[in-house]
Amino acid sequence: MSDIAPLKQEPELFNPSAQFVNNANIAGMEGYRAICAAAEEDFEGFWARHARDHISWHKPFTRTLNEEQAPFYRWFEDGELNVSYNCLDRNVANGNAEKTAVIFEADDGQVTQITYAQLHARVCQFANGLRALGIGKGDRVVIYMPMSIEGIAAMQACARIGAVHSVVFAGFSAKSLRERIIDAGAVAVITADEQVRGGKHLPLKSIVDEALDLGGCDTVNNVIVYKRTGAGIDLVPGRDLWLDTLLAEQPTTSEPEWVGAEHPLFILYTSGSTGKPKGVQHACGGYLLWAMLTMKWTFDIKPADVFWCTADIGWITGHTYIAYGPLAAGATQVVFEGVPTWPDAGRFWDMVSKHRTTIFYTAPTAIRALIKACDKDPHLHPKRYDLSSLRLLGSVGEPINPEAWMWYYHNVGNGECPIVDTFWQTETGGHMISPLPGVTPLVPGSCTLPLPGIMAAVVDEAGNELPHGQGGILVFKRPWPSMIRTVWGDPERFKASYFPQELGGKLYLAGDGAVRNEKTGYFSITGRIDDVLNVSGHRMGTMEIESVLVANPRVAEAAVVGKPDDTTGEAICAYVMLKGPRPLGDEAQRIARELRDWVAREISPIAKPKEIRFADNLPKTRSGKVMRRLLRAIAKGEPITQDLSTLEDPAILEQLRQAQ
Ligand code: WT7
Repeated sequence: MSDIAPLKQEPELFNPSAQFVNNANIAGMEGYRAICAAAEEDFEGFWARHARDHISWHKPFTRTLNEEQAPFYRWFEDGELNVSYNCLDRNVANGNAEKTAVIFEADDGQVTQITYAQLHARVCQFANGLRALGIGKGDRVVIYMPMSIEGIAAMQACARIGAVHSVVFAGFSAKSLRERIIDAGAVAVITADEQVRGGKHLPLKSIVDEALDLGGCDTVNNVIVYKRTGAGIDLVPGRDLWLDTLLAEQPTTSEPEWVGAEHPLFILYTSGSTGKPKGVQHACGGYLLWAMLTMKWTFDIKPADVFWCTADIGWITGHTYIAYGPLAAGATQVVFEGVPTWPDAGRFWDMVSKHRTTIFYTAPTAIRALIKACDKDPHLHPKRYDLSSLRLLGSVGEPINPEAWMWYYHNVGNGECPIVDTFWQTETGGHMISPLPGVTPLVPGSCTLPLPGIMAAVVDEAGNELPHGQGGILVFKRPWPSMIRTVWGDPERFKASYFPQELGGKLYLAGDGAVRNEKTGYFSITGRIDDVLNVSGHRMGTMEIESVLVANPRVAEAAVVGKPDDTTGEAICAYVMLKGPRPLGDEAQRIARELRDWVAREISPIAKPKEIRFADNLPKTRSGKVMRRLLRAIAKGEPITQDLSTLEDPAILEQLRQAQ
C-alpha cells in the first residue's frame, strides 16, 4: 500500500446551490448526519423502519436481520413480497397508471413510449407466457437481450413468477454465454433475432444457437425470441418460439408469486481473481429496498424527473438503475438502444435535450471519449445543445479523474448540477459511497462519504482500521440489505472472496484500495487490489484472459496486466510466449491480431488486449512466479526500479518493451 500517495489535504469543495439544497430529499449535512446517527444507534431499527416505509409487503416481516449463519446474512426473512408488484402494480394503483414509465429510443432514433399501465400489462402477459411453458418459482432463466422495453419486461416477468434471471451482456461470446447457462442451470433463454447498435446488426439468436450447440446445456427447454429486426433466423421446432406468438393469447393480468424476502431475485456473473466468473446472487427484499432508497437519496428522485442511466441491462447498473430502481420509484426513464458515438458523438446531448432529461447517469469512460470527440469536432460540444433540463449528473464504474469531472461539471452541467460519483459493485447491489446531491460538498475525484447505514472503513492487511490519509483496503464493517447472498453454487468461494479469514472473517472485502482525506474524511478509491482490471468500467479478470490465451494452440504462456489509458481508464496488455520461436515484424503483428480476435471470440470484444508483446520467456522469479509488478512497470513505460536479482533471464526485458 505504500505506493498509494495521500491526496492533497486541502481539496477544492463545490457546494450545492441554495435551490438544490432547499428542495433536496435530505436536509443538508445535518440531515445526513442525523440519518447516519440513527443507523449507528439502532442498526436493525433503522433498516426495519425503511423496509416498512418503502416496500409493500404481502406478509410483513417480524425479524430484520438474522446473523446466525454469518456471513450468510438474511434480511427481513419471514416477510413476503413480490418485486414486480412493487415496481408495477403499486404504480398502477397509486395514480401513476398513465404516467410514462419508459421512453425508449432505438439506435435509428425511433422513439417508443410505454406507460406504467401498459408495461404492467406487458409484463403480466410475459409472466403468463413463461408460466405456460412450465417455468416457475426458483427456475433460472438466462436473458441475452438488446437494450429494449422487452429486455426490461423479461426481467420483471421473471421477478413476477419468482423465477431467477441471469442477464448475460449481449456482447459476450457464445462460449461465455454457454458457461453461464450451464453454471446457472437455466431452463430457458430469452433473446432477440438481432441486436442493433451504431448501425450494425449482431445476430443474437445465432449466438444462442452456437452456445447450445457446443453442448452441455441440457437443462434448456426453450429459447424465446423477441423479433427486433425481422432478420431470418432458424427456429428449432419444439424448443424455440417467437415472443409475440407466446404472448399473443395471454391475459394482461397475472397474480404475482409471493416469495420470501430472501428468495433469489437474480444471478449476475462478474469477474473475479480466478478464471471462472462468479455468479453473484441477490435476494428480493433487501435488493429492492436499497434500489428504492438510493433512487431517493443519491438521485434525489422526484415525480417530475426524467431519469436516464446509460448502462446496459447486462451489467448491475442496468439492473438496479434501469430494470428495478426507477420503476420502483415510479419515475419516468429514458432507455437507449445504441452507442454514444453514433450517428455522431453528440448523441447523448441530443437525447438529453430531446427528452428533457433531468438526471443523467453515465460512466467516466464515455465522458472521456466524448471530450476527445468534441476536441476534434467543436460542433459536438455539449454547450451547443440545450441541456437546460438537467439538474443532476452521476458517474459510475471507475474512478473519475478530476479533469473529466470538471469538464462534465462545467460543460454538461453548466456549473449548476451536482455530480454524484457513486462507488459500488455488482456485489453491493446499489450505491455504497456517494455524495448526496444538495447535501455533500463535492470534491472532483472523490466518491466522498458512505450512504446512511453503510459502515465503510479503510484497513490494513490484518483488518485494523487505518488513520485518515493512509492508503489501505476498503471494507464494509456491517452487512447491508442489498449485499450479495452467495456465489451461485459455490458458498465457499463467497466466504473466501468477500469475508476472508486474513481480515478476521467479519469484514466485507470490496477488492479496492482506498484512502480517506485527513481533513474531510472523504473516500477516494485508488483502484483494485486484486487481479481484476477495469476497462471502460467493465470488470475483467486477468486470469480469465490468460486462460483463454493459453488455450490458443500457438501459445505456451501468457500474463495479462493493466496499463493506464486516457479513454478506457485501464487497457489490457498481454505478454505472450509462443510455443514456436518469438515472432518478429509483420509476423508478430499478424499473430497479435489473430490472438486479439481469438480473445474476442472466446470471451467478448471488450476483453481484447490492446497490446500484445512477445518474448522468449516471461519474467519469473527463481521460484517460478511471474513478476507482475515488473510487467506493469514495463507496460506503463516506466523506468524499472524493482530488484531484478531474482529474475531468471534479464535479457528478456528488452523484448518485453516492444509492443505489437
Ligand atoms: C468495481 C465494481 C458499480 C457498477 C458498475 C461496476 C469500480 C465502480 C466506482 C467509482 C471508483 C469505482 C471499483 C469496483 N468502481 N464505481 N465511483 N469510483 N471505482 O460494477 O463491474 O461490479 O465493478 O468498479 O473497482 O470494485 P462492477
